[in-house]
Amino acid sequence: MDEIALHPSFAPGSAGEVELHPEEVHVWAVSLYGDSDAFAMLLAPKERERAARFRFADHQRRFQIGHGALRAILGGYLGVDPAAVDFTQGPRGKPYLSGRGPFFNLSHSGKLALIAVADHEIGVDLEKVRHLESLTAIARRHFSAFEFAALDALDDAARQLAFYRCWTRKEAYIKALGVGLSMPLDTFDVSLGEQPEFLACRDGREEPANWSLLDVSPGPEFVAAAALRARGRRLRCFRLTVA
Ligand SMILES: CC(C)(COP(=O)(O)OP(=O)(O)OC[C@H]1O[C@@H](n2cnc3c(N)ncnc32)[C@H](O)[C@@H]1OP(=O)(O)O)[C@@H](O)C(=O)NCCC(=O)NCCS
Repeated sequence: MDEIALHPSFAPGSAGEVELHPEEVHVWAVSLYGDSDAFAMLLAPKERERAARFRFADHQRRFQIGHGALRAILGGYLGVDPAAVDFTQGPRGKPYLSGRGPFFNLSHSGKLALIAVADHEIGVDLEKVRHLESLTAIARRHFSAFEFAALDALDDAARQLAFYRCWTRKEAYIKALGVGLSMPLDTFDVSLGEQPEFLACRDGREEPANWSLLDVSPGPEFVAAAALRARGRRLRCFRLTVA
């Protein structure tokens, strides 16, 4: 993980050495730099087919590392060979473990992936921060009226971080629900400040009080959030180390 400066709260960890205790949420940071051979070996035939379809070798390599690491981490929790981990999908493509095992979700941006694992439905979203010319237009289109007004009230210096915080919190929630982009993003409000909060849900789908929003930003170049359909969980973060 030398290539990406991660926050010290991401402790080194290897797959299989960490147990998920009730009341915990784990978030693993996986560097997508380096050689992918050891990870590619763990992939199932369908994942190999997906990897082979990437046009650029670098995208293929990142996919192999991300999905190989996902198998290694989940295999570690289940106590099974990573290659034997079996996945199924929700109606809109959200991956789940077949049979027993924790909930999980994956996000990647740039050369980093995050994998969140918990005993309840979870979503994670990671974004590499970059200058966005169309930041205001994106916010106007996707944020709720409350969120857009909160963003609009900020000065230029504060606006970019607030935008990414709002964006990743909203994405994490829809990824937890597994509904993908079918769900209008303006039906619920999240906070834009340092403290992540699920403030309101106007479509009656969920009760915000039953949810936790967590800031899981792994380092200065990235903003990330996790959304969990449970309260009172302790967050533990790891950087995947490979022997
Ligand atoms: C899931 C989704 C929100 C992710 O967006 P993103 O920010 O571009 O990507 P991220 O890196 O954060 O997440 C991607 C990962 O989320 C997971 N994922 C895929 N579908 C998902 C879903 N519906 N809900 C939650 N997670 C999902 C996968 O692990 C995926 O990794 P992979 O592409 O390497 O397999 C977006 O791809 C989406 O909306 N998908 C569903 C589209 C849809 O509704 N299709 C309708 C089919 S009927």
